[in-house]
Amino acid sequence: MIVITGATGRLGRLVIAKLLAAGVPADDVVAAARTPERAADLAERGVRVRHADYDKPESVATALAGADAVLLVSAPDPTRAREEQHRAVIDAAVDAKVGLLAYTSILGGDRATLRLADAHRATEALVRESGLDHVMLRNGWYTENYTEHLAVALEHGAIVRSASPEARVASAAIEEYAEAAAAVLTAKETDRRSVYELSGDTAWTMAGLAEEVSRQAGRTVEYRQVSPEEHRAILVGAGVPGAVADLLVDSDAATDRGELAATPGELSRLIGRATAPLADAVAAAIRP
Ligand SMILES: NC(=O)c1ccc[n+]([C@@H]2O[C@H](COP(=O)([O-])OP(=O)(O)OC[C@H]3O[C@@H](n4cnc5c(N)ncnc54)[C@H](OP(=O)(O)O)[C@@H]3O)[C@@H](O)[C@H]2O)c1
Repeated sequence: MIVITGATGRLGRLVIAKLLAAGVPADDVVAAARTPERAADLAERGVRVRHADYDKPESVATALAGADAVLLVSAPDPTRAREEQHRAVIDAAVDAKVGLLAYTSILGGDRATLRLADAHRATEALVRESGLDHVMLRNGWYTENYTEHLAVALEHGAIVRSASPEARVASAAIEEYAEAAAAVLTAKETDRRSVYELSGDTAWTMAGLAEEVSRQAGRTVEYRQVSPEEHRAILVGAGVPGAVADLLVDSDAATDRGELAATPGELSRLIGRATAPLADAVAAAIRP
């Protein structure tokens, strides 16, 4: 039985869809959800839905009973000490003696210096200390991070951030990371590595993103670099909480240092094809 936590989120849902598409029987899959009613569609497909709230360790322990493999999807609130939330899953996985614990970490893992990496570094340490067979799925940035707000960029004729125009990101689609996770969860033990650095095949630049949007939209969308302070003010003005804005500005600084640009090709090897080009995501995002 394979348990997916955070199963009602974008990644968790896609991992479950990929497992089912790969032929894993629905009743061998557990959607572990903080809000089980959001998983009603998965229950209809025969997936077992169990309550698992990282903040309620007893619920996680019940959800993991009988699990052979667990995918711990990192918690979404970056302003919290997420490793403490993740600890509930790791402890429950130890108690359930699972054969595999996979964790969605961050590209670069313990070498990453951006602040968002702190919780991942601490969680990776907890996973290693658990003594369980484990896999770190060190996910790079989702391409969707850059394409989901393109309507605003089109409205203003500019993509505005604090990263330099030449800063590079080897992003990939959420669906590709999900497919990689499903591949690892269903792989033979001998075919599995303990760490995968997952990213898109091509590291595109911020200026290149603006050029691609301009090309496809048929009008100029410039890339405008602003100071970290201005970037933060814009984010807060758009309703982003200050603590989250700080982390996003810090991530742009890390992008400038090249921390999101690695292209080891491990994601395309796991999914068996090249990752989708940035142009595809831009097209999907601005399609009328
Ligand atoms: N690599 C990247 O670019 C990137 C970008 C964004 C996020 N991330 C990280 O990757 C994770 C997965 O991404 P995503 O896009 O699938 O995120 P998402 O769509 O926001 O989903 C987050 C999931 O976590 C669940 N959750 C929230 N609090 C929980 C708790 N206390 N206990 C158990 N589950 C809880 C949510 O459940 P509910 O339905 O109950 O809210 C939801 O299912 C995120 O959580 C975040 O850590 C990575």
